[in-house]
Amino acid sequence: MSSWVLDRLLGSDADAPSYLAAAPAASADVLADDDLQLALHLCYELHYLGWPDAAADLEWDTTLLGVRAWLERRFEAGLRADIPLVPDACDPADLVTAIGDAIGGRSVADHVRDRATIDHVRELIVHRSPYQLKEADPHTWAIPRLRGAAKRHLVEIQMGEYGADDETHVPHAELYATTMALLGLDPTPHAYLDVIPGSSLAISNLVSMLGLHRRHRAALLGHLAYFEMTSVSAMRRYVAGLERLEVPPEARRFHEVHVLADGEHERISADMLRAVVADEPALARDVAFGIGAAALVERCVADRLLSRWDEGRSSLDGPHHPVTP
Ligand SMILES: [Fe+2]
Ligand SMILES: [Fe+2]
Repeated sequence: MSSWVLDRLLGSDADAPSYLAAAPAASADVLADDDLQLALHLCYELHYLGWPDAAADLEWDTTLLGVRAWLERRFEAGLRADIPLVPDACDPADLVTAIGDAIGGRSVADHVRDRATIDHVRELIVHRSPYQLKEADPHTWAIPRLRGAAKRHLVEIQMGEYGADDETHVPHAELYATTMALLGLDPTPHAYLDVIPGSSLAISNLVSMLGLHRRHRAALLGHLAYFEMTSVSAMRRYVAGLERLEVPPEARRFHEVHVLADGEHERISADMLRAVVADEPALARDVAFGIGAAALVERCVADRLLSRWDEGRSSLDGPHHPVTP
């Protein structure tokens, strides 16, 4: 699948693959499917800064969009197959805790605080880079699809993500790039695509899928709320780990900024979820899907990283440890 997409990006006019006729199977395995996640990532990046060697009008190439739709149906079916049902909460903001607890999983933030080596931290930064280097952009797609208070709350959060709340006005994505550079990593987008497994590309693919479809607008808000409402505690543990490893203060800034900013974003997110459900009560289920999908992808990433590190191995793909400078 990823080879076909790559050929298309490089100018091939081959027909869509014949497997598109088959019905997608609902399996949570798609979250860690390297081929499917890479194929989706190749498609989605056309909607951000694009690929240097791909024609810009491929963004709306109907054959490519048909393949992307097939990949998305498999991805969505896999997510829905594994999201636990929770009782409809009175307050949609309570869904983050209810669904997050039901999905569970091990904590990478605890590992970073207590035991991680500097190479573990570098690897973690690489795994999250496909999303963090464009942090906030996919959520911005919901703005024209909302109205009233939900739109206002989302814009308020997004302004903070793009740097409005900070005296230096640096967007969070740029703080992430600075952290990468100070840790001896290459902050160029896609620099590590060959070594990032599908389970980590799924972080970026999930939010791109939710962002690119109007029908997922409430799921996109649920996804954003999940991260804002679980961020402060996790970011504190990351900061503690970075201090333990004596990482220079400038390299900790991305995480420190989030401890401050996300306390406020947590409160606004709760109001945002209440507003969107008050405006369109039928969207409560979509909010729950977005929260569950975010929690599932995070559980899958944590499983991969912590199980590899438990075995003393790199969590990245490839024969060597490319993040060791
Ligand atoms: Fe942020
Ligand atoms: Fe935030």
